[in-house]
Amino acid sequence: MTDAAEPLAPWGDLVADAIARVAAASDATELRRLDVELLGRGSALVAARAALASLSAPERREAGRALNQARADVEEALAVRRRELEAQERAARLEAERMDLTEVRPTRRRGHLHLVTQARDRLEDVFVGMGYQVAEGPEAETDWYNFEALNFPAGHPARNMYDTLYLELGPPESTLLRTHTSPVQIRVMEATTPPIYAVMPGRCYRQDTADASHLPNFHQIEGLVVDRRISFADLAGTLDAFTEAYFGTGIRSRLRPSYFPFTEPSAEFDITCVFCRGDGCRSCGRTGWLELGGCGMVHPNVFRAVGYDPDVWTGFAFGFGIDRMIAQRHGIDDLRELVTNDVRFLRQF
Ligand code: PHE
Repeated sequence: MTDAAEPLAPWGDLVADAIARVAAASDATELRRLDVELLGRGSALVAARAALASLSAPERREAGRALNQARADVEEALAVRRRELEAQERAARLEAERMDLTEVRPTRRRGHLHLVTQARDRLEDVFVGMGYQVAEGPEAETDWYNFEALNFPAGHPARNMYDTLYLELGPPESTLLRTHTSPVQIRVMEATTPPIYAVMPGRCYRQDTADASHLPNFHQIEGLVVDRRISFADLAGTLDAFTEAYFGTGIRSRLRPSYFPFTEPSAEFDITCVFCRGDGCRSCGRTGWLELGGCGMVHPNVFRAVGYDPDVWTGFAFGFGIDRMIAQRHGIDDLRELVTNDVRFLRQF
């Protein structure tokens, strides 16, 4: 080393010391302070660079190179430590924010009523609010209640609309699992005298293979009104009032001509599609309407079957599937979800 290089002499130690301090820096703040101290305006390296001016050209080149190397080494050490600290900080933050999704919290989860029961209760509430009473009947019925009294004589072709499950009890085809809730109309009329304003919810059975839109065991709710001077307008108005009360404002009902042996005239009962609100979509087959059930004016033969005088009494009846209505209301695309009892499905309601 020459005299002129004297101010640059202790480089080796200075750089080693600087690198050691940088490596020991414990956080970003300390590192920033070291950066200023070691490379900033007041640093030994900057002072040494100023001193280069007093050297001869070859010495200056030599010392300048050493100085550049020293500066590069310190910068490198700072960069390495900065990356290390950032990685540590990130790891600490992730650890702090981490959620243990495997954790089992011993909360006491309360059970709740099944979706079908909830819907049935709500439907009953709406009708009770309109002054109706709630009645029930047996699921195992006789041919008389399920068909005969409802104006389906033996061999009547309309019996084919119902894929009946018969029970091995009594004479062949004399007992069955009810195919609809309409037999409860007969039981209510037999047990009471008009006026009657009643709804009758319950389980029904048909010989159907379960698929996305059919269940062999499903639920219906039946309505029956018997009073003096009841007209078709009362039926239409009642269904419309019910529709708004249950589905909300903007959902209306409409009737289409249909056929049932126990009502005359008979109609099919549709409601505004709850998904598109009438504009037409996939769920309603672009019609803007969803089919809900059947209805009509009580047939005189039904009154005769229960001993009511059809010249005195008039009435209407309606019936619709609760399960399908639930599917429509909640956008469930497979009715079987209602009976497979998967708690992940059931807990959503
Ligand atoms: N019981 C009929 C069915 O299940 C529906 C209905 C009820 C029709 C009451 C008219 C009156 O198909």
